Amino acid sequence: MNCKKFVEEQIGQIRQTVGDAKAINALSGGVDSSLTTVLGHRALGERLETVFIDNALMREDEPQRVVKTFAKMDIPVELVDAKEEFLSALAGLTDPEEKRQAITDTFYAKVFGRLVRESGARFLLHGTILTDIEETVAGIKRQHNILSQLGIDTKAAYGYTVVEPLKMLRKDDVRAVCKFLKLPTETTSRIPFPGPALATRIVGEVTRERLATVRRATAIVEQELADSGAFQYMAVLLNDRATGLRKNKREFGQIIVVRSVESTDAREATVTELPWPKLHRLCQRIVAEVPDVNRCLYDLTPKPPATIEYV
Ligand code: XMP
Repeated sequence: MNCKKFVEEQIGQIRQTVGDAKAINALSGGVDSSLTTVLGHRALGERLETVFIDNALMREDEPQRVVKTFAKMDIPVELVDAKEEFLSALAGLTDPEEKRQAITDTFYAKVFGRLVRESGARFLLHGTILTDIEETVAGIKRQHNILSQLGIDTKAAYGYTVVEPLKMLRKDDVRAVCKFLKLPTETTSRIPFPGPALATRIVGEVTRERLATVRRATAIVEQELADSGAFQYMAVLLNDRATGLRKNKREFGQIIVVRSVESTDAREATVTELPWPKLHRLCQRIVAEVPDVNRCLYDLTPKPPATIEYV
């Protein structure tokens, strides 16, 4: 992979495609959208508007952290508060595909559509990578960022043309280019985090309260496993309750699952063999620090048959 050549070619290509027009892109803080943002800014400067859409499904302080990271690179990111729109779209939904669909529709048709119209941008820069396209086309998984490859005419449907500078790269290439461009390690070495965010880790209805529960548990799991070297780790909130006992009082509390997996490309995964003391510590912290949670489980299931996420 010749990173220098790739960067030069893509900057030229973006300039040529966008011409004198304006472009917009949504940054999630993941490696793909981060690299797209940096390439886009090098190509277009202020003619690229970068937004971070707070969909209410992010981890603790994530929106502010991402904006700060890019401010340090002199790339302004506009934080858009769309929490209410996503929460109301998700209200009452429990079926996994319906939840994913609601997030996709709210993102593209409602929030992003409105931002594009307001910005006057005619081009959308998208961090689609080769694996996203392959998996979607093969029907393995509908990635929420794939539109044109499924025959969706974005110009007719949403009023913008999609530009995908990373569509020939795989994840390891993306990371190599990020390193070449000296993107901060908090971006390049970030564990995978799905587009539908914490909604993929809530079984059942996604509500403000349930998000707060899984968000707190996620922060604990991420702190405890930060130096584990695992491929991906997370907390999941089940849609069930269990009897417990606290301060001599019976309670019917919530259940958190901790999941940590090893993988190279997320197509298959094995379970991380965490040491007992670490598992105990995770359990102790989660039941002590996450309100209303009185049970913590460790998921021993590989992929397949389980997927990595729960939704
Ligand atoms: P699954 O749950 O399908 O996940 O085993 C495989 C990998 O993909 C991530 N994932 C997603 N990433 N949009 C994304 O950008 C999505 O809709 C999505 N669903 C799952 C997941 O975190 C894991 O790394």
